[in-house]
Amino acid sequence: MNNNPIGFLDSGIGGVTVLREAVKLLPNENYFFFSDSAHNPYGDKTDEEIIARCDEIVSLMLQKNCKAVVLACNTASAKAGSFLREKYSLPIIAIEPAYKMVHDINPDGATLVMATKGTIESEKFHRLFYKYYNENTALMPCVGLADIIEQGDKEKIKAYLKEALSDYVGLIDNVVLGCTHYPLIKDEISAVLGDVKFFDGSVGVSKQLKRVLAKDDLLSSSQAPASIEFFDSSTDETTRIAKQKRFFEFLK
Ligand code: SIN
Repeated sequence: MNNNPIGFLDSGIGGVTVLREAVKLLPNENYFFFSDSAHNPYGDKTDEEIIARCDEIVSLMLQKNCKAVVLACNTASAKAGSFLREKYSLPIIAIEPAYKMVHDINPDGATLVMATKGTIESEKFHRLFYKYYNENTALMPCVGLADIIEQGDKEKIKAYLKEALSDYVGLIDNVVLGCTHYPLIKDEISAVLGDVKFFDGSVGVSKQLKRVLAKDDLLSSSQAPASIEFFDSSTDETTRIAKQKRFFEFLK
């Protein structure tokens, strides 16, 4: 048993979509969420830049006595997951686009995988994609989308999706949300594509977190409701306050 916090890392506040699933499954844990606003978006950064940032954040989480780390960011998972697992001995749980889930649940449907360019081009995603390969799949690197979701500009999001998804209207059954920011815009995606099934990795990663904590005897013994600490790395106080406000709104 261990009541220390679980660290959640994301390039911004999108990882809240993973945290809210984790809290449902593990309601008596303590959580520390690190939103790396000062360095987002991660989607178009080099591997070296992402590894350096994640390395710095995980060492800070160790100083805060985190007992495990969840990479609540697909790009960070794809680019820095292996490095962090080799360097650190605490459990590091990474997320991946839920492409296997499509294979298991609706393999005959036409599938669109939406993710950052970094995730789509990563070796980790290529392995997953070819393992469950289905020719009825289109890959869509959504350059800049996580950034406009992070800014919270609804009109920009709608305009982006209208243009980016125009070739797929009426043709898609499954949408893989391969970035933790994208579950926040399901309604806007449906408004363009119509009735689609969404797949994202947040439930899978939360179940994996629970399994790992149980296996390592790290589950909390507390009966108290989850405590959640939020930190944003922006140097601008107004930005930090705005991020914190949106983060707790999305957590509800
Ligand atoms: C981004 O910062 O570009 C989004 C990261 C992700 O969740 O893949």
